Amino acid sequence: VKPVSEETAPLSGGTEDEEAKSILVEPGSAGPVSALWWDSGAELLEMIDQTLLPTRLTVLQLRSVDQVAEAIRSLRVRGAPAIGVAAAYGMALGAREQWSAADPEIDQVTALTRLRALAASLRSTRPTAVNLAWALTRVLDAAERHLQSGKVVAELPACILSEAHSICAEDKAACAAMGEIGAALIKDGDSLLTHCNAGALATAGIGTALAPIFVAWSAGRRFEVFVDETRPVLQGARLTAWELARAGIPLTLITDNMAAHFMRRGGITSVFVGADRIAANGDVANKIGTYGLGVLAQAHGIPLYVVAPRSTIDLSLSSGDAIPIEERGADEVTSVLGTRIAPVGVKVANPAFDVTPSRYVAAIITEAGIIRPPFEAGLEKL
Ligand code: MRU
Repeated sequence: VKPVSEETAPLSGGTEDEEAKSILVEPGSAGPVSALWWDSGAELLEMIDQTLLPTRLTVLQLRSVDQVAEAIRSLRVRGAPAIGVAAAYGMALGAREQWSAADPEIDQVTALTRLRALAASLRSTRPTAVNLAWALTRVLDAAERHLQSGKVVAELPACILSEAHSICAEDKAACAAMGEIGAALIKDGDSLLTHCNAGALATAGIGTALAPIFVAWSAGRRFEVFVDETRPVLQGARLTAWELARAGIPLTLITDNMAAHFMRRGGITSVFVGADRIAANGDVANKIGTYGLGVLAQAHGIPLYVVAPRSTIDLSLSSGDAIPIEERGADEVTSVLGTRIAPVGVKVANPAFDVTPSRYVAAIITEAGIIRPPFEAGLEKL
């Protein structure tokens, strides 16, 4: 994975040294950000390396399925919809690699077997966000339809790339729609709280939970946003604070254990979060810490809104108990940004997600509308 361009986030008035360490860019100084995109000239996938934000804005060029798998596993690209889009493009790269290898006469069965193996390697990178498996299934279905319609195996890479473009475009449109629909829940003077990063960096568009925030702000409503830092990997501090600052939206960064304090003092009017998987009963898997926010929000009479596209809904699971929870490496807990903070050899647990039971969710906002409890019927109807 080769960096093609690199720049330092500018901090107005700072010295060169401060610039290299700056956390916030000058508010409002930069346009919208994209997590990933297909470079149709060079025919490769480009993405921001999110592990380096906010201190370095680095664009990676990915040419192989293995590079895409590594980027997903190591959180260079992250967020449920974004990893689905990345995986779809990863299949296009993988198919091209397979087909440019010696054997152009490959038969249909072998072709599909190879594609399924590629999909399995991408699917295994992160188990919780269903968007990843969903996107891979869509690509495989498109490949099967292509072959069933009598088209040639050699055209499969183009067929898969076209399906990846559709998945990407649909996600963009879904983000825009969730933004418009969810913005109705934000009023002048509100103090919103958000967790992790569910913004443009987590999708192909303007985000899920941050989309209503961006749309309401553009429409002239004025409010503030509290941002949970989101340990262990700090997506809130590193990514959400960066995105909101770029948009000129007033934000207050807090550590995760401060949320209760601000809720008790009446400082939070609603909570907006994204989702990695929503079960048929409305239980929501999202970044670790979301469940705690749900319990706290309900105890303080504050609504918790979950904003997610339909690709995040998994009706095959009757409840959140069946959602697989990714366990990540101990180093994410024992270190902060590369600095060790715990004794060597200490026992560590690191579930990357938790499940918020649907009774703590006030509403689920999708691109097709707002669903309120009881969720089963509303989700089924979608
Ligand atoms: O581990 P991450 O950074 O991929 O986790 C991301 C989240 O939990 C987001 O809230 C979720 O994917 C929704 S993003 C639109």
